[in-house]
Amino acid sequence: MTTLELDKAFLAKTYDRFPLEIVKGQGSLVYDAEGKSYIDLGTGIAVNTFGLADSQWIQAVTEQLGKFQHTSNLYYSAPGAQLAQLLCQRTGMKRVFFSNSGAEANECAIKAARKYGAQKKGPECYTILTLENSFHGRTLTTLAATGQEVFHKDFQPLTPGFVSIAPTVEALKKAAGTYSLAGILFESIQGEGGVLPLEPAFVKAMAELCQKEDILLMADEVQTGNGRTGKLYGYMHYGVTPDVVSTAKGLGGGLPLGATMLGEKVQDIFTPGSHGSTFGGNPVCCAGALSILQRLNDTVLQGVTERSNYIVEELSGAKGVKAVTGMGLMLGVATQKPASQVVSTCMEHGVLVLKAKDKVRLLPALNIPMAMLEQAVGVLKEACAEGL
Ligand SMILES: Cc1ncc(COP(=O)(O)O)c(C=O)c1O
Repeated sequence: MTTLELDKAFLAKTYDRFPLEIVKGQGSLVYDAEGKSYIDLGTGIAVNTFGLADSQWIQAVTEQLGKFQHTSNLYYSAPGAQLAQLLCQRTGMKRVFFSNSGAEANECAIKAARKYGAQKKGPECYTILTLENSFHGRTLTTLAATGQEVFHKDFQPLTPGFVSIAPTVEALKKAAGTYSLAGILFESIQGEGGVLPLEPAFVKAMAELCQKEDILLMADEVQTGNGRTGKLYGYMHYGVTPDVVSTAKGLGGGLPLGATMLGEKVQDIFTPGSHGSTFGGNPVCCAGALSILQRLNDTVLQGVTERSNYIVEELSGAKGVKAVTGMGLMLGVATQKPASQVVSTCMEHGVLVLKAKDKVRLLPALNIPMAMLEQAVGVLKEACAEGL
């Protein structure tokens, strides 16, 4: 049987895949089973930070693999300890809990908020505010946090204690007066929701409320994190200091790794036995992540902004393009034609782009060569304009 046939026969039907089997990659190029190459503007949904088969990342990972692949969290190991140190140095956060995915990183944030709320204000203080149109993961609790009904149906009852509000100061004030809040969980740019950056005034209002009421401000940086938006973390565009930052995706660069960074208020919230993960902080994943984080310097971040500016300039006002949203290399393109049609046309012409709601979504590698980006944007422009 072919891969496609095996997949269709034996895998759970959770994914609506394109008829494309990826067999290898190099940098921002991926190859299918027939040897056709594609310029990758999706990076496995913001995971392959420096592209595929990146030599520095491979070296870091294989060096660690040659030493040992795993140890339980009963013992110390250097990669996780060093990665946690660097994350704290680069963000000002105080401690890190490692897990294996974005959903788990958010679960840890939610547990921190519940424990903090209960400690500070009593057992009734557990409600976590999230935003309408948000996405925080697929576990039952992170689904409850996700402010999109479409993901909730069929899986009731979800974990209680979540309320989603519109991202307005008015809705925020109303919620603060109604619920006993433990935390607010937000994406600085809603990714799955359609690449929508939050308004700076609203982010400021959330931060002020959290400060005033001793509520945790929790940034979900699973998609916006690790250089994606042109700053190390998306919240850094807004001049606020979260109490908790969760991240995953691009941090591991292709191996599963989640991280929940705990700020001053909650640095001691977890005690031995209160949280844990068998694979969390896996030394191979952490060694790869350390190499990625070490490379995310000002030059790379500047390169993200330059590439972003190029894409926005090329696409804004182009035929068939209604608007470009997002920041850095996390961009949404509202197209006149259905986004799925544009995605398919791009694929036919050797360019892989993604969708987010009704937009075409671009999440290229942070180091995609300019010439390759120019070529891919040219294909995308034609796909948007074709037949109009
Ligand atoms: C903002 C955000 N949070 C959480 C998640 C869930 O991450 P994971 O699929 O690694 O559990 C995602 C995934 O797309 C995301 O974009």
